[in-house]
Amino acid sequence: MKTKILMVCLGNICRSPLAEGILKSKLNGNNDVLVDSAGTGNYHVGEAPDPRSIAIAKRYNLDITNQRGRLLTAQDLKEFDHIFVMDQFNYEDAIELAESEPEKEKVKLILEEIFPGENVDVPDPYHRGDQGFENVYKMLDEACDIISDKIEKGIY
Ligand code: 4NP
Repeated sequence: MKTKILMVCLGNICRSPLAEGILKSKLNGNNDVLVDSAGTGNYHVGEAPDPRSIAIAKRYNLDITNQRGRLLTAQDLKEFDHIFVMDQFNYEDAIELAESEPEKEKVKLILEEIFPGENVDVPDPYHRGDQGFENVYKMLDEACDIISDKIEKGIY
């Protein structure tokens, strides 16, 4: 059975599209994994990623232009195995959609992968400059290294 991983942020145009693109690139060729992303807010449904996310991805040879924003649903909490949220707000919004304890347990701050137990957020770069996007990229790259390693070892 496929392992299904969902990356979640607020708008699904800045952070989670990067997380989706980065993790997919690390798993290239592994057909047993599905990676998707969604947002807890409906502001950017149907839109391509933010141009600043597209630009930073391109700098690292990733093409995320084909992604489109979509809203996180209660069904996602049933279908996906691991739901990685970017910050505490996303965490609370995602948990509200859960209809059981096992569904709640799927939701985890993505930076727990790097800093377990420290509740560190991936900062929202939307109102920041390009440096914010560079920082976000680096954090997500490190977290996705750990996630892809766990997938390869059968932990996820
Ligand atoms: P994201 O960034 O959650 O990383 O996609 C944001 C994008 C849009 C908004 C906020 C955050 N917004 O308020 O429209």
